[in-house]
Amino acid sequence: MANNRISVHGQWSSRWAFILAATGSAVGLGNIWRFPYETAENGGGAFVVVYLVCIALVGLPILMAETMMGRRGRQSPINTMKALAEEERRGRYWQLLGVLGVAAGFLILTFYSIVAGWTLAYVFRSISGVFARSSVAQTQEMFATLVSDPERMLAWHTIFIAMTVLVVSRGVKSGLEQAVRYLMPVLFLLVLVLAGYSLATPGFSAAMSYLFKPDFSQIDNATVLSALGHAFFTLSLGMGAMMTYGSYLSQHTSIPKASVSIAVIDTGVALLAGIAIFPIVFTYGLQPEEGGPGLIFKILPIAFGQMPYGRGIGFLFFVLLMFAAWTSAISLLEPATAWLVERKGFTRVRAAMYTGLTAWVLGIGSLLSLNLWSNAKLFGMTFFELVEYLSVNVMLPVGGLLVAVFAGWFMSRSSSYDELKLNKYGYMVWKVGTRFVAPAGVILILLQKIFGFLG
Ligand code: TRP
Repeated sequence: MANNRISVHGQWSSRWAFILAATGSAVGLGNIWRFPYETAENGGGAFVVVYLVCIALVGLPILMAETMMGRRGRQSPINTMKALAEEERRGRYWQLLGVLGVAAGFLILTFYSIVAGWTLAYVFRSISGVFARSSVAQTQEMFATLVSDPERMLAWHTIFIAMTVLVVSRGVKSGLEQAVRYLMPVLFLLVLVLAGYSLATPGFSAAMSYLFKPDFSQIDNATVLSALGHAFFTLSLGMGAMMTYGSYLSQHTSIPKASVSIAVIDTGVALLAGIAIFPIVFTYGLQPEEGGPGLIFKILPIAFGQMPYGRGIGFLFFVLLMFAAWTSAISLLEPATAWLVERKGFTRVRAAMYTGLTAWVLGIGSLLSLNLWSNAKLFGMTFFELVEYLSVNVMLPVGGLLVAVFAGWFMSRSSSYDELKLNKYGYMVWKVGTRFVAPAGVILILLQKIFGFLG
């Protein structure tokens, strides 16, 4: 049964436009900020291995499933799930998957925007030349000053949300597409340059063993869950972002091919970021896990302060990181915005203002939890940490699990076969992935975390 729905929000102008936009969503702070700091908090190489396994066995099949479901439903995740459930004669409660996604998107944006704000602040710091020959203690101090100043962070947070609303309110083609076209390749190059610099530092070989010689005694149930959550986070899965982007995708594009490109580029950027950052950590005799969420902001300025042309390179790096964060944040706000347009008949501009305002208000909680409210803890976590944990380690895996179960078990063979257009073997592999491997992976990891059987 062919699907002839069209999206009221428009369509990508080409296959490339989709790949760029989806890559723009995937590649972001997750790769350059979160991957190194999660690796550091979870003991290095063992985390990296589990993360790579999760990308290949769980992330990739779900990326295809989510995009495919979006293209078939052609609406925001909530309405797409409603339409697909009707088409397949399944219960209406599948809509809740879309609702969970919208909620997760807001929660993620809550801390995402704060970190994007740090990036903006560092754009200006790097061009001012303050990093020149600064010591480790000085760069740590600089980061601490920023984080302890709620007013300054509020200003950056506000600017970043406004930037995101601006692009989302302009819509699919003029807004989202243009933002990614030229910037992603340059970012890739720059991370490569940084990795090249790190190659020549004395800490390089220590960093390589740290990253790529896994010490499996470091693995416990928390590590495994973090790696799974991060795999979802970095591929923008489990909250409907890829479903929404899929809903703007032309019927002629191959979803499996596009998905593989997205996953490969995304993983490549993360690994390169690790190769760029950890040698500097070791060269300066730091303990990786001491960095916390501020890791790259404490580490990279040291390198920019020492290398030739460091001022220009540092400036360019933070500008590009800001763009990478921007193109990701857009996809966090888009599902809820598209839903408001469909449901309430709002104009795009008005819908984007409402969703942006919601994200802005919630973000203030994250911001204050880094300074004024840093002692207010629930389950031993601050607001920032709690929101990050809940959204990334709980909501995304659960959302992804439901996507896999729907695509693997509840969609008729003809619908998924029709959308994916794989050959017989490819289709079989995908089916085994979404029916068994991905759900079993997520369920096992969640259970072992709950019952703690890995120790
Ligand atoms: N993948 C992005 C990053 O790595 C973040 C992101 C954008 C995201 N959209 C998402 C994460 C949807 C989860 C779900 O920075």
